[in-house]
Amino acid sequence: MERVKILVGTETGNAEDVASELAITLEGAGFETETVDMEDAEPEVFLEERAMVICTSTFGDGELPFNSEALYEALGDERPDLGSLLFAVCALGDSAYPDFCAAGGTWSELLSDLGATEVVERYEIDEAEEEEVEGACEWVERAGARFTAVVG
Ligand SMILES: Cc1cc2nc3c(=O)[nH]c(=O)nc-3n(C[C@H](O)[C@H](O)[C@H](O)COP(=O)(O)O)c2cc1C
Repeated sequence: MERVKILVGTETGNAEDVASELAITLEGAGFETETVDMEDAEPEVFLEERAMVICTSTFGDGELPFNSEALYEALGDERPDLGSLLFAVCALGDSAYPDFCAAGGTWSELLSDLGATEVVERYEIDEAEEEEVEGACEWVERAGARFTAVVG
């Protein structure tokens, strides 16, 4: 396992900042990474790599951030077989909202439904506090180890 694609769902940039920390951590662990704004991605992106990290915030009432709605809908329409995809989800949100980090779960459900395997439990960041971002870096190291353990 050498490459990990990081897909970013964001409205005001916090998830992009977290994604760049995750990329630095994965690169330190020996992976090549590519970070892609969901706005610039087509459903084929899910077939390009074996391993993927979804890093997304939640907006509205538990909804996806605007930049990721089109990708989510297109993937749900096309329904490719994602049986060989491994993924992990880092969700940003604010626990003051009732649907805390819901967009992370929305992605987990769709990708799992299409046959992909979630390799570690979802990581949730409450208001992008620094210590939670550090926790996300530890979490992504575990995700990287799982990617390697499964794919070799
Ligand atoms: C209008 C608005 C709606 C939000 N709705 C939710 C929500 O339903 N659930 C949640 O967990 N966080 C919610 N948030 C919090 C954001 O997810 C959080 O601030 C996050 O860090 C933003 O990341 P981003 O800059 O990558 O978009 C909301 C924030 C705003 C401003």
